[in-house]
Amino acid sequence: MELLPTIAAVRNYVAAARHRGLTIGLVPTMGYLHEGHLSLARAARQQNDVVIMSIFVNPTQFGPNEDFARYPRDLERDRELAAGAGVDAVFAPAVAEMYPAGYATYVHVEGLTEVLCGASRPGHFRGVTTVVSKLFNIVQPDRAYFGQKDYQQALVIKKMVRDLNFPVEIITIPTVREADGLALSSRNKYLTPEQRRSALSLHRALNLGSELIKAGEREAAAVRRAMEKEITAWPETRIDYIAISDAGTLKPLERIAGRVLLALAVWVGNTRLIDNVVLEVSD
Ligand code: PAJ
Repeated sequence: MELLPTIAAVRNYVAAARHRGLTIGLVPTMGYLHEGHLSLARAARQQNDVVIMSIFVNPTQFGPNEDFARYPRDLERDRELAAGAGVDAVFAPAVAEMYPAGYATYVHVEGLTEVLCGASRPGHFRGVTTVVSKLFNIVQPDRAYFGQKDYQQALVIKKMVRDLNFPVEIITIPTVREADGLALSSRNKYLTPEQRRSALSLHRALNLGSELIKAGEREAAAVRRAMEKEITAWPETRIDYIAISDAGTLKPLERIAGRVLLALAVWVGNTRLIDNVVLEVSD
């Protein structure tokens, strides 16, 4: 497996692959890899000749009071896990390589970024779309892989790709969970054993909401109340948002119908966790 620390090294690597007529899949990550990341890499492995993974804790997508400095990092371990999942090359740039002094250009997707996580993390998606645009321009992949765990992120990136005509196909991969249902996240590492138990409330609330809808409930407010109750019953939880939205536009629904996104963000102690499910609801 190749470790590519600079943009120039990626460009050389990609040029050689293109010269041989090979297709390229890109898996953007912030590292501290888990099975969620690796499932993206395995999908990329199946569908492309060459798989490149980026590992970059992107400072522009963290707010001033967020966890950029303490975000977990372990490049040695990540390299081994990536190689095991069939990654051919890891692009792991320094911050100054991506954002040299005087850096001034940002990509902003309107609308979809103003709700859900965008409402509680101002500037977050601007950082995500900026770094992902840079990665697309650096790697110029045929396909890029994103997890449904970050549903809104994948939707925003698809919108950006359409609007800015990036010649890349965006592929989303289902959320990988622990045996008990907790969605894998690099941030799960922050949780104490008790918080780890409380973290399960996200999955439980999504299940509860889904079941109420399957049983015929169509009032979003009633579903939201039941989900709230499930979450607040657990120690150290604080709800950031519970959204019951149109899965395509992210507009809030009063009456549940069509392709529906149940999405939530919950603080467990000092850790903010997110999860979601998408349901197809017939009337
Ligand atoms: P990160 O949180 O490291 O996630 C990298 C990719 O892995 C994202 O597409 C995310 O949705 C996916 N992922 C995370 N947990 C997952 C899970 N349990 N199951 C399936 N996929 C999962 O998301 C980012 O990094 C950054 O915002 C990034 C896109 C790299 C831009 O900096």
